[in-house]
Amino acid sequence: MCGIIGYIGEKQAAPILIDGLKKLEYRGYDSSGVGVISSGPNGGMRPVPSKVILRKSHGKIQNLEELIKSRPFPESCIGISHTRWATHGAPNRVNAHPHSDCEGKILIVHNGIIENYEPLRDALRKRGHRIVSDTDTEVVAHLIEENNRGDLVQAVQKAIKQLDGAFALAIISSDYPDTLIAARVGSPLIIGLGKNENFVASDVPAILEHTKKIIYLKDQQMAVLKKDSVRVFWFGGKAVKPKVDVVKFHMDAVQKQGYAHFMLKEIHEQPDVLAQMIKSRLKGNQVILDGFGLTEAQLKGIKNIALIACGTAYHAGLVGRYVIEKLTGIPVMVDAASEFRYRDPIVDKSTLIVAISQSGETADTLAAVREAKSKGGKVIAICNVVGSSLTREADGVLYTHAGPEIGVASTKAYVAQIAMLYLMALKLSAHRKKIAARARLRIIRDFKRVPALYKDILKHKNAIAVIARKNSHFGCFLFLGRNVNYPSALEGALKLKEISYIPAEGYPAGEMKHGPIALIDEYRAVVCIAPQSEVYEKMISNMQEIRARKGKIIAIATEGDQAIKAHANHVVYIPKTNSLLTPLLVALPLQLIAYYIAVQLGCDVDQPRNLAKSVTVE
Ligand code: M6R
Repeated sequence: MCGIIGYIGEKQAAPILIDGLKKLEYRGYDSSGVGVISSGPNGGMRPVPSKVILRKSHGKIQNLEELIKSRPFPESCIGISHTRWATHGAPNRVNAHPHSDCEGKILIVHNGIIENYEPLRDALRKRGHRIVSDTDTEVVAHLIEENNRGDLVQAVQKAIKQLDGAFALAIISSDYPDTLIAARVGSPLIIGLGKNENFVASDVPAILEHTKKIIYLKDQQMAVLKKDSVRVFWFGGKAVKPKVDVVKFHMDAVQKQGYAHFMLKEIHEQPDVLAQMIKSRLKGNQVILDGFGLTEAQLKGIKNIALIACGTAYHAGLVGRYVIEKLTGIPVMVDAASEFRYRDPIVDKSTLIVAISQSGETADTLAAVREAKSKGGKVIAICNVVGSSLTREADGVLYTHAGPEIGVASTKAYVAQIAMLYLMALKLSAHRKKIAARARLRIIRDFKRVPALYKDILKHKNAIAVIARKNSHFGCFLFLGRNVNYPSALEGALKLKEISYIPAEGYPAGEMKHGPIALIDEYRAVVCIAPQSEVYEKMISNMQEIRARKGKIIAIATEGDQAIKAHANHVVYIPKTNSLLTPLLVALPLQLIAYYIAVQLGCDVDQPRNLAKSVTVE
């Protein structure tokens, strides 16, 4: 995905755009660019025609900022900008956005993929257009140019009719220096309303400093922004009276607040995220799932559940399967959303589909949701971003309200997702006889204690950092867990590999003997997730097998377990809790291990190479 911000108003556009881009850098950071329209009198002597001025750079936004410092923009109160995560064409200056038409009058920035850009490009070239980049985006500028008969809005309408795929677009033209146009299909785009200024952006953090009044543009909608007005309408032209939302979060939520990285800040926010969720969702022992959108009768009628998600959210789903099946007896399937559509899943009216996503914009998750809905399934979203595409397409939404997650590696969103799945399981369990009422109440009691236990683990973060540093030289890691902590092993490995680039495998410990044991020697580190539980002894056996082959072990164990020290090189302790709840607790040391190893190796923790915060392309 990419990040877009556009500005029209009375202030200088460039600093606002650069600042906004920095807030969107989590969406992509391989190249960036700013384009503005300069206009007005030349020292009062003679009128100067408006013209577009562009600055683009490869790499991070810092490079762009330095370029602009060395070649400052002239005065300008309108502009668009972009930070890119490359899909079509190498991440270089030429392919960086904004892109323009042949005459260099129209500028556009784009998030998404124009699927039919190749035939469009070939046809445009035949008609004499000079296309200079390898991107799918540039064709849009030329299509607008070709359709421009003195009305930019109509030209954009005609151009986008020819596009297949997903797009969020922001467009300006030097012939219309008082107009900024936005349009979306599939990719998110918001309008920010200010006083004598208006904004367009991919996401709220980019403009939060300027306004909290937001219009979430819907698919097939366009907006025409002037400095003192915003007109929204459907692509066909029919006017829309848009809903204006006032976003609640504060600037602190999108700043590091003294932490070295967003990831570390977000790790530390987890106790509060969990406490807040417990406060709003548990009234005494009653689970309140406002937004679930199902009647008590519908809840009773659920025959099976399908959890669909990608990446870390998929791992949350895997935890959810264990928890829901154990507490309710309802059969659960879990699919990587990117695979769900292709296996012709058995879904019908009695299937509850739960789509899990931090961003709510992950293209594969959205596509899986559409597939499930077409088969008659009812879709509930577990989602963090209010107003995202997923929340609009789902029949019900359980917001995790974890606050903006800026670090590319998901931490607090994951913990909030699994916490929500526990709550869902507890809610559904009230209608089934799978576990005894007393056992259910004990789990609720222990669940309420989790935020405090998080704080206890965080008190030992320096000791975890020491262990991480001591093991940062290993070139390969294996993460092993059993039962509810098998998904924890997958998530621990994903965290480590995405931010430190160390090859890491997550495995069910029982499968080790069926292949991965071949990896073990004195040069491998193995993280064994072994809290007290019904599979503890089996984990110990696995650890003995690893030690016998000279593998180095970091164990995650329950406080007070001294015996495990005999089988491990290092032990990280988590407080005692119900074994079913341990995935919530082990997530924290796994995140910290990955974080401190990545820092030790000098990696770019918040913006790991090749990744983007949410993947809006399939
Ligand atoms: O926004 P989503 O939760 O749908 O994103 C899903 C994955 O792309 C995401 O969890 C990804 O795996 C993270 N980088 C993991 O840290």
